[in-house]
Amino acid sequence: MTDPVLQRCISPGCAAGYSVDEVITSCKACGSLLDVEYDWGRCAVPKSLRSFEEKWSRRFEPLCLSGVWRFRELLPFAPAEKIVTIGEGQTLLQTADGVAKYIGLNSGRCFLQYEGLNPSGSFKDNGMSAAFTHGRMTGAKRAACASTGNTSASLALYCAVSKLMRGIIFIGSGRISYGKLSQALDYGALTVQIAGDFDDAMARVQEVSKSLGIYLVNSINPFRLEGQKTIMYRVLEALRWQVPEWIVVPGGNLGNSSAFGKAFFELKQLGLIDRLPRLAVINAAGANTLHELYQKRGVRWGGGKGSTQPVIQYYGQLDRDGHRASTIASAIEINRPVNLAKCLRALEWCDGVVREATDQEILDAKAQVGAGGLGCEPASAASVAGAKKLVSEGVIGRDERVVCILTGHQLKDPTATVAYHTTDQEKFNEVLGSRGVKRAAFANRAVAVPNELDEIIKAIQLYG
Ligand code: F0G
Repeated sequence: MTDPVLQRCISPGCAAGYSVDEVITSCKACGSLLDVEYDWGRCAVPKSLRSFEEKWSRRFEPLCLSGVWRFRELLPFAPAEKIVTIGEGQTLLQTADGVAKYIGLNSGRCFLQYEGLNPSGSFKDNGMSAAFTHGRMTGAKRAACASTGNTSASLALYCAVSKLMRGIIFIGSGRISYGKLSQALDYGALTVQIAGDFDDAMARVQEVSKSLGIYLVNSINPFRLEGQKTIMYRVLEALRWQVPEWIVVPGGNLGNSSAFGKAFFELKQLGLIDRLPRLAVINAAGANTLHELYQKRGVRWGGGKGSTQPVIQYYGQLDRDGHRASTIASAIEINRPVNLAKCLRALEWCDGVVREATDQEILDAKAQVGAGGLGCEPASAASVAGAKKLVSEGVIGRDERVVCILTGHQLKDPTATVAYHTTDQEKFNEVLGSRGVKRAAFANRAVAVPNELDEIIKAIQLYG
């Protein structure tokens, strides 16, 4: 390796290398995904993860305050003066005994990693900060993404704050929640609504970015995933550098699962941890490509040699049937995940499993998360619903430490939440009934009372 950092094709049969100065999102030789690869021997990596604690005492420095860049020795692709940060990654790991009980774990064994506390309200800011940094290194003036909502909110925010790039976002029609759309509009991004779904928008944004030379910030961009690795560093830090038994994460475009696998693989390679946790990726049942391919059709990474035929066949079948992704968890309503290959690799590294959760299971799990405080959007709760399934199957042991990643803030999608808790059956049916959600097992109903003091007091005494 000539440079200490390269972009490297993940296909072992090809393994072409490219300079970090190049703006590409796939291998020019074979079309595979790219990794950011470090020659660790030439990077200043600390001897122990504990050394990162020292950064806390320097929180007045932006690069030490950022939950991404205080780990910059583990993603050393950018000179300090090019780093774009707005204080992302101030997130927390919460012990959640209410949720532990719900999913069948012993007390003290369930942890929720709240990525909704990021500046734009989702985990995306971890990756956006890294992608913007690379965009800045390469002199990008415009940045684009396709999005189910959170990537676009994050991109728009980073454009608005940094003033480095003009943001262009591609969304499908009708499926983006208002919380997320309102962010993109407010922050001033150019919003292009495609007559199609996310998968259509994702395909188009790649074509458009290529033909107009626009910097693409979807998770197909390997630099984005470098930022998302830090979610795992913060989880380890909160656990005092102990590796939990399980990481459970919702799966959409499969960027997080890919990034988490790489984070742990590298830490092990560097001798900073002695084992990898197991990884569980949870699809929504209405957008279950990974589950179908991995659990049902046995598709594996196989050291990079696994057959891609079943994948091609499956996508062909989706086309023939005109099958579209459909779930209340709109953030993960994706049938053609761009990071599929990297996720399969992460599942191999982390002895992973994949499950799917129905919209009913997702919303019930979400209500349980909310009841414990902070809350999350529907897609995030897939992690909790999936963990519950894995405990009931005996795959996860009751005494194992399980970290569920809550990817997005509760206020991102209030429609689903209010519909779940409503007393208005028509509203419930309109939003949830069409998706097979039958009951709101944990509904917290609003109590309607006449505007009379006695009646109000009576209601409080009755229900309070
Ligand atoms: N959870 C939330 C809240 C998301 O917004 C997303 C993805 C995911 C989970 C899935 O993560 O792609 O890493 O598997 N949202 C993207 C977007 C697709 O456009 O905002 P993944």
